[in-house]
Amino acid sequence: MSAEKEAHGEAHGDFTSSPLDPADWQAFRDEAHRLLDACIDHLSAAREHPWRPLGDADRAALALGKASEGIGTGALVDELARNVLPFATGNTHPRFFGWVHGTGLASGLLSEITAATMNSNCGGRDHGAVYVEREVVDWCRRCFGFPESASGQLVAGTSQATVIAFAAARTRALGKDSRYDGIQGHPKLVTYAVKGVHNATSKALELLGIGSSALRTIDTDADGRMDMALLAQAVAADRAAGLRPLCVVGTAGSVDLGLYDDLEALADFCTKEAIWLHVDGAFGAWARLASAPWSGLVRGIERADSLAFDFHKWMYVQYDCGAVLIRDEAIHREAFAARPAYLAKQDQGLGGGEPWYCDYGVDLSRGFRALKVWSALRAYGSDALGKAITRNCELAALLGRLVEKSPELRLSRPVRLNVCCFSAAPAEWDGAAQDALNTRITHELQLAGEVVFSTTKIDGRTVIRAAITNHRTCEADMDYAVAAVARIRDTAIATRS
Ligand SMILES: Cc1ncc(COP(=O)(O)O)c(C=O)c1O
Repeated sequence: MSAEKEAHGEAHGDFTSSPLDPADWQAFRDEAHRLLDACIDHLSAAREHPWRPLGDADRAALALGKASEGIGTGALVDELARNVLPFATGNTHPRFFGWVHGTGLASGLLSEITAATMNSNCGGRDHGAVYVEREVVDWCRRCFGFPESASGQLVAGTSQATVIAFAAARTRALGKDSRYDGIQGHPKLVTYAVKGVHNATSKALELLGIGSSALRTIDTDADGRMDMALLAQAVAADRAAGLRPLCVVGTAGSVDLGLYDDLEALADFCTKEAIWLHVDGAFGAWARLASAPWSGLVRGIERADSLAFDFHKWMYVQYDCGAVLIRDEAIHREAFAARPAYLAKQDQGLGGGEPWYCDYGVDLSRGFRALKVWSALRAYGSDALGKAITRNCELAALLGRLVEKSPELRLSRPVRLNVCCFSAAPAEWDGAAQDALNTRITHELQLAGEVVFSTTKIDGRTVIRAAITNHRTCEADMDYAVAAVARIRDTAIATRS
């Protein structure tokens, strides 16, 4: 027995190792280094790895079958590198502009290895991961100007953050008993948001039993913001009908066009009317870190009662990672706290470390999401992340100018943030043919591995949409993308029967 084993108490028992741990740690170290090299090769050559569809053989290579016997970690490394790694979403590529997909950071590789090694459960207790999350939540709180008394947690994304925020709003509106009694017996709750609000709002209302029919979508004013006069009319009409406003949802960065509500005006209105103000800032909240004029778009965000936002979109952090902030910690806790005997508060030891994150959200068992955010902030700092966000806005504006310069392309709306929507279809074509051409262009460019655009509908027509949350994109990518759209368009028109 070595002195080391003696020191760890192994002299006092026959401690066996598990077959689920490597029998030969040095061999595992070599295998792991091999995989890390493959991952760094892949990421450092992101430009060579666009999205590629899986063929039959690729899908077959992923089959688990009965999986009653394993292949070992050495063979696993080969399979991961050969059969899994090449088939990513492609959002690490500099010309990925589809939906709102962040790119992931090199720091994320380091934090994910560390988090996997620690395998922390961040639902609660007294350990380092919880203190890291507290630092991240507190950084967010300061970044968005929330008071020291605010609370928050990291979640899967803005969709989950919205559920948590609405549950807190519901608790304030109906009292804590509504957790037990439900919403029956209360006046019907209603929610207000701008037309074009993300469907995460409807989903959250559905999940909380309030129902998406309780969502009043308010038309926009001439600047694309929620029309405040229409909002006031809707609230007054609902109150007169005996309904109870649950909350107003302000949008900070609409998914289709990157538009912002006037958050100051919404905060004034909600204060006057004593209505909860929730802000969906999934990606747009991060304009807070950009330079002017974009930073001005989020003015008033600090007055929200709750804020939902993501790190996996515009902070470039690996999936999945979003966050919720709630101004009133007491209401937040009241909406979620529940600790059966086996989780009871302890004065010391690992069971200490109050407050526990499980008392602020849906999940009892929670992973160490905070480490990827903490690592990004430690490695690069918020100034560099803010500069990348500013650059994305500049590149979207450039794309807008290139579209306007191109006689074949038509800009759908002025570019306000990082989103640019346009049509490549001749205006004289009938609507369905225009839709089909814009869709075809996005498909062909995706399949060719050249550019990933997605589509959306503006004024009822399918248009090509670019949302730039990509720190690898540069000016030349914009030139390339516009030329590629024009090329596919010209071929499609030339071969049109
Ligand atoms: C404005 C807005 N809100 C909410 C969401 C949903 O966020 P998540 O996908 O992180 O759940 C999105 C997603 O794109 C969004 O753009």
